[in-house]
Amino acid sequence: MRVIPLTLLALYMTLCGCDEKSAPPATTRNAIPSDPDLAQIYVNSCQLCHANPAANAPLTGDRQAWEPRIRQGADTLLDHAINGYNGMPPMGQCVECTEEQFLQLIGFMADQPLPQ
Ligand code: HEC
Repeated sequence: MRVIPLTLLALYMTLCGCDEKSAPPATTRNAIPSDPDLAQIYVNSCQLCHANPAANAPLTGDRQAWEPRIRQGADTLLDHAINGYNGMPPMGQCVECTEEQFLQLIGFMADQPLPQ
């Protein structure tokens, strides 16, 4: 089950001819999760950096920027979200977030499914 979505993703990346340098439009990066609880966490904790090009964080909805990070796998992403990673602060400033919520937030920002 892990191989299929990644293969499709790779195919999509090849076929779409996406320009690596193209940043997502503001409407994409300013999106918020549809789930109200998740949206609140996102706005309070993640959006400040992940919708702000100056923060050097992979932007919400920027599939290009997230794709190589997603390839690291859910465990690594979760580890980096919880323990911090370079400019990414530990827990992304959400001390009460559960692992499940982190995974949902990452999936939302990356706009693509996380490998299991
Ligand atoms: C203070 C700014 C800031 C906040 C707040 C923040 N991030 Fe980040 N985040 C960053 C930066 C900067 C990076 C890029 C780090 C790098 O690759 O060097 C990053 C990267 C990440 C990554 C990718 C790590 C990897 O392995 O490539 C994940 C996942 C992530 N953030 C999740 C979150 C989540 C979830 C939240 C909210 C709960 C959040 N971040 C809040 C700044 C922030």
